[in-house]
Amino acid sequence: MSIKSPKLPVFLALDVKDLNTAKNLITQYAHEFAGFKIGFGLYLKTHTQLFSQIKNEGGLLFVDLKIHDIPNTCFDAARTLAIQGADFITVHALSGRSSIQAAVQGAAINPNTRVLAVTVLTSHNQQDIQDVGLMMTNPNQANSISAHVCNLAHMAMNEGVHGFICSAQEAPMLNQAFLKTPKKPVLICPGIRLLSHHKNNITEDQRRIMTPAQAIAAGADYLVIGRPIIDSPVPQEVLAEIKNQLLNM
Ligand code: C5P
Repeated sequence: MSIKSPKLPVFLALDVKDLNTAKNLITQYAHEFAGFKIGFGLYLKTHTQLFSQIKNEGGLLFVDLKIHDIPNTCFDAARTLAIQGADFITVHALSGRSSIQAAVQGAAINPNTRVLAVTVLTSHNQQDIQDVGLMMTNPNQANSISAHVCNLAHMAMNEGVHGFICSAQEAPMLNQAFLKTPKKPVLICPGIRLLSHHKNNITEDQRRIMTPAQAIAAGADYLVIGRPIIDSPVPQEVLAEIKNQLLNM
């Protein structure tokens, strides 16, 4: 794949402590990145205060609250975020068929809002999914993370989601699995670390990781990158490396 858009297919995860830091990051990076992701922490602190800035500066608004609740509550939360103008929102696939369907129905009030199912968190490894008791019902089925990601993705797709949050490690499998669906699901992949982070084992809490180039080559549509940029003492160098990787594929 070659990157033709002037902006990189990256959402900057605004996992910062206050409104002003987030505002400055949006202004600084609006011309570089496709959009910005507001997670639970920042949403609690700033609510919708950053939404119009992201939209006015030309970015896609990804509100990543990972909704996980009963169907009625999922419907209401998704509807509210859609009315507030979110381009992408997330619902946990583990919340189940009815809750996913309710989130999709709630978001439908805004035709531009796309609902993404979080499959298995990129911070989870095999031990974590065992700890939370994720088990295939058929004893002949593998209990690997990728098998669960695939299973959850199929369930969520049947309930009408527009795409998935997954590790880029699972992107080839998911693109293959949905090759024949009329509308290809959007794959958004967190767990992105540069080669230098891999080498020095700086992966923080992320477990299923890939470099930006590996992730795009694997079939990710967008990457989510937070700490490698926002916590770096030299963010411009990190950005240059990401650009170098993606623009020279
Ligand atoms: O700092 P880092 O690049 O690891 O940030 C990744 C971002 O993606 C975080 O905001 C995290 O909440 C989000 N995310 C994730 N794994 C998922 C879904 C979302 O890391 N499965």
